[in-house]
Amino acid sequence: MKKKAPAAKPKNKSPRVRAKATSVKKSAGKKSAKSILSELLAGRPTTDLKYILYEASVQCPEWHVRHFPRYLLWMTGKKAMSLREDFCGTSRISAEWVKSDKNRTALGMDLDPEPLDYYERIHRPTLLPSQAERLRLVQKNVLIPTHEKFDLIAACNFSFYIFHEREVLLSYFRAAHRSLEPKGALFLEMAGGEGMLEGMEEERMVRIPKIGKIKYVWEQNDFDAISSVNDYAIHFQMPNKKWLENAFQYHWRIWGIREVREILKEAGFSKTHVFWETADSTGKGTGEYAPMENGDPSHAWIAYVAGVK
Ligand SMILES: C[S@@+](CC[C@H](N)C(=O)[O-])C[C@H]1O[C@@H](n2cnc3c(N)ncnc32)[C@H](O)[C@@H]1O
Repeated sequence: MKKKAPAAKPKNKSPRVRAKATSVKKSAGKKSAKSILSELLAGRPTTDLKYILYEASVQCPEWHVRHFPRYLLWMTGKKAMSLREDFCGTSRISAEWVKSDKNRTALGMDLDPEPLDYYERIHRPTLLPSQAERLRLVQKNVLIPTHEKFDLIAACNFSFYIFHEREVLLSYFRAAHRSLEPKGALFLEMAGGEGMLEGMEEERMVRIPKIGKIKYVWEQNDFDAISSVNDYAIHFQMPNKKWLENAFQYHWRIWGIREVREILKEAGFSKTHVFWETADSTGKGTGEYAPMENGDPSHAWIAYVAGVK
């Protein structure tokens, strides 16, 4: 089976290549974790550390801001000006969105006040006032529609996999549909393939300014073939070799593209498109995505499914 290389796009956020099994052990370091933390966080909540590490090793918000509007333009001819970022966490996509055009607006929605607070303290002050005033965050369940309507709703990093039941996913899609402008679209970032289902650990080194080289570890358990639910976790190892274990944990149902398209249709979306990674002549992923109706059997893939209102 052809194995796809990691895409250039979002920073290898998902398991694509089976890494050598590594045991996540704590080991002694030269500098204590406490001293690194106190230098870095100086007066900040210790929970900030996991967001610093996550953003540096997982996210690439510029990619979404560059590509989703292009896909929407191609699908419906609509220019994307307003964004709702669902499951927004620290709202990095929204922050890039308002920077990308002086007329663009964004609303981030998340249930958890902790990452929303991180945005307010850490990211908001880095925006110009004219940018910050066009970005609002609400602590809100994405299952509830917003009165305000958007050109584009983005659900990134497989976040909707948190919904395990078909009925719940359907109600999310209905709520998103109601919250879209005509010719607007819901974009779902999805991952799948065998590589997403097997018990494994993948690790890579990431250099982070002011922190140094950290190890990012993506861990997945064996997939439950009956429930289609699996447990995943992100661990980090600091430059002093101390571990931040289970910084993030996910209990996800692994949805398939076909069933998701069917549910989008049931929720009222007039059309769906799948943006699948293109391959070069050797079968290697290019990091570019194009609308396709057939996908090659990649070991692990990331794809974008869009539902058009
Ligand atoms: C995997 S994180 C995604 C963070 C960020 N969007 C990204 O792309 O990396 C999932 C986020 O979804 C939030 N969340 C989970 N269920 C939610 C719901 N029903 N409504 C709103 N947010 C939810 C969690 O609090 C968490 O911050």
